[in-house]
Amino acid sequence: MHIEAVAPSNIAFLKYWGKRDAAQQWPANDSLSMTLSSLVTTTRAQVATSDQITINGSLVSRGDILGNKAWRHLDYLRSNEGFKAPLEISSTNNFPHGAGIASSASGLAALTLAAIGAWTGSSSMDMLAEHGYTRERLSRLAHMGSGSAGRSLWGGFVSWLAGARAEEQSFTQVLPADHWDLTDMIVVTDAGEKSISSTEAHAAAWHSPLFAIRLSGLAQRQEQMLAALKARDMAALGPLLEQEALEMHAVAMTGKPQANYLNKATSDVIAWLRQVRSQKTVPAYFTLDAGPNPHIICATDRAAELGYLLKDAFPHFTVLQSQVGQGPVVRLVGDSPR
Ligand code: PMV
Repeated sequence: MHIEAVAPSNIAFLKYWGKRDAAQQWPANDSLSMTLSSLVTTTRAQVATSDQITINGSLVSRGDILGNKAWRHLDYLRSNEGFKAPLEISSTNNFPHGAGIASSASGLAALTLAAIGAWTGSSSMDMLAEHGYTRERLSRLAHMGSGSAGRSLWGGFVSWLAGARAEEQSFTQVLPADHWDLTDMIVVTDAGEKSISSTEAHAAAWHSPLFAIRLSGLAQRQEQMLAALKARDMAALGPLLEQEALEMHAVAMTGKPQANYLNKATSDVIAWLRQVRSQKTVPAYFTLDAGPNPHIICATDRAAELGYLLKDAFPHFTVLQSQVGQGPVVRLVGDSPR
């Protein structure tokens, strides 16, 4: 049996930045994301005679930078869930390798679904749930591989609530994909690997004098963001997105060690976007991941116009485009009967 899982990446509107407890992947704060329709990881798994993981066509081992997270997560799933069978796993991203787009959210979500699917013989999300693997439970498992991967189990706009104790963390869809037709235009200013991993940066945040101030204002921002999303109010959502992204990077820059993910082109794109907004009244706003590539969020009916303007201003940068995604899919592939 060959199980294929297709899991989307997501972009955080309210950022997960800092862990309260690293062993339990308990975040310092709630986060909120948009699921991306067109940036996905596809992972196939089947029971085999020995474990094997292939990522983007290359066999990876436990010691590899690329393979380390996947192997650790496979080991975790096996011991935590009590499965014994070895798995042959192969995984590919549909976004260009080295596009500077974090693949851990989609990658670890797809690995969780494919592995549990193969072990339990489940070829759909419904079958997984029949085996006791509800979306909630799968989110919790995926998030142990990479926190943001827990949000990739859901479509639309997704909350990861920290709760009062690590055991109370939860992932939920707050609004479905068709609630608001938004587009994320990712300007690839640098395709390189990030200098400081997010694992290291989550720990470094606690050493920033700005971190406590950030945490104290987040509940209010979360409320305002949810209200803006519900009302489909870009004029209200946009400034919140930008403030949130800049604040996360301010914490990163003042942590220990300091992490500066931004480059000159990041500021150029941001300055350009502000100008576009004031001169051409295109309501589009940026957010940032732990990297130098601005994610520009706008209503999909303004995306073509923004795309032309971007191409004109930055002809040398690739722009990846994604709408709001529906969430993951699990299915049976290969020679096994349906
Ligand atoms: O899931 P991680 O450990 O790679 O951390 C993700 C951190 C950000 O992408 C910057 C923010 C987020 O909430 O996704």
